Amino acid sequence: MYKRDFLVLFFTCIAAYFLGACQANGDFTGREYMPDMTHSKAYEPYVEGRTVMIDGDSVQLFPNNQAALKPVAGTVSRGYVPYYFEDTAEGYEEAGRALVNPLDAYDKTVLEQGKIAYEINCAICHGAKGAGDGPIVKSGAYPAPPPSYFREDILVLPEGKMFHSVHYGKNLMGSYASQLTKEERWKVIAYIKNMQAEKIAKDYKVSIEDAHQVALGKKPIPTEVTEETTDEAATEEAEVSTEDSTSATGEE
Ligand code: HEC
Repeated sequence: MYKRDFLVLFFTCIAAYFLGACQANGDFTGREYMPDMTHSKAYEPYVEGRTVMIDGDSVQLFPNNQAALKPVAGTVSRGYVPYYFEDTAEGYEEAGRALVNPLDAYDKTVLEQGKIAYEINCAICHGAKGAGDGPIVKSGAYPAPPPSYFREDILVLPEGKMFHSVHYGKNLMGSYASQLTKEERWKVIAYIKNMQAEKIAKDYKVSIEDAHQVALGKKPIPTEVTEETTDEAATEEAEVSTEDSTSATGEE
């Protein structure tokens, strides 16, 4: 018993003696134990004076002493596809003509995931049903409310233009390029286009397939409207009538 206590005390004293010795003092900078943990082997981005010895000569390893180098001109990182359209009115038009949703816009999983991303990122302004009446707009805090997705021009807005606006942002709407991957953005757009198609199918009594074509701007908005619904009324009605639009099969 006594012997063990004595040993513990003895080794603690020895350890204290050595630890005390590593303290910096005057010109002595202190001793380093485990220097490989203190000095990372990975290069810091802006290291100073990082040199290597080559054939007895000290050679500076990185130009300007910067370990963080720019990628080789003309290269991109693996898996990255640049976005070719510029943030200009022309770029917007070109994107509208050229970009097509690469995902299957009828796929249930795509739509479900699009809905989730929409509710997280967009519904706060655009409203859960896309009527432009999200909580932030209702609170009065937002200076310029977004348009309803069922306003006639937005209803048939080409998906490429939508993608472009979500990529760069538009006026008071910020860019979502850093929040959502390209695939996630296309899922959200598929979800919005589907909401619009359901509305079109219901209001104009057309099949859901035709309604999708209209929403994508590939077919004109039907002029023959059965019942009393007119284009104008359809826009005004948008906020309330999306509720039951999911039941529209377009078969009638
Ligand atoms: C902070 C509020 C806000 C959020 C969040 C927001 N938007 Fe918008 N959005 C706007 C406003 C405002 C406009 C109208 C911009 C304009 O035309 O001046 C708009 C316009 C749009 C348009 C029409 C663009 C065009 O080219 O006319 C689309 C499509 C759109 N938003 C999609 C989205 C999607 C998808 C998200 C989520 C990823 C989103 N928005 C999130 C405020 C928002």
